[in-house]
Amino acid sequence: MRIEHIGIATPRIDEALKFWRDALGLQVVDVEEVAEQGVRVAMLPVGEPRVELLEPTSEASPIAKFLAKRGAGIHHIAVRVDDIRATLRRLQEQGARLIDESPRVGAGGCLVAFVHPSAAGGVLLELVEHTAAPAEHQIS
Ligand code: CO
Repeated sequence: MRIEHIGIATPRIDEALKFWRDALGLQVVDVEEVAEQGVRVAMLPVGEPRVELLEPTSEASPIAKFLAKRGAGIHHIAVRVDDIRATLRRLQEQGARLIDESPRVGAGGCLVAFVHPSAAGGVLLELVEHTAAPAEHQIS
């Protein structure tokens, strides 16, 4: 298990890039809009893990709701697992509250599922399993 990415909610990616790219010096490797999730996403690798900047594209977006309630900041932490279904089963057996009881297919073919923050001490946790399919855009 390893850190896959850290999701950071921001009202405007362009503004956030003034720090993460221009001041800190990270490189943007991908910017993509994910319509069904109502977000625009920018990926900035920090070694192997990435910073994932999340900007809402609609008021219905979970990121818009998060920003309204909590303001900009860390939205979730994603860990990469080898077998997401086994991890979900294990968590269910342990009584952990899940948002996704079965994995969803993210862009690029990776499988993702969210664990409720109440199970993880207030941290929204995303599980990611990379699949064999080549993943050009891994949005999760
Ligand atoms: Co994510």
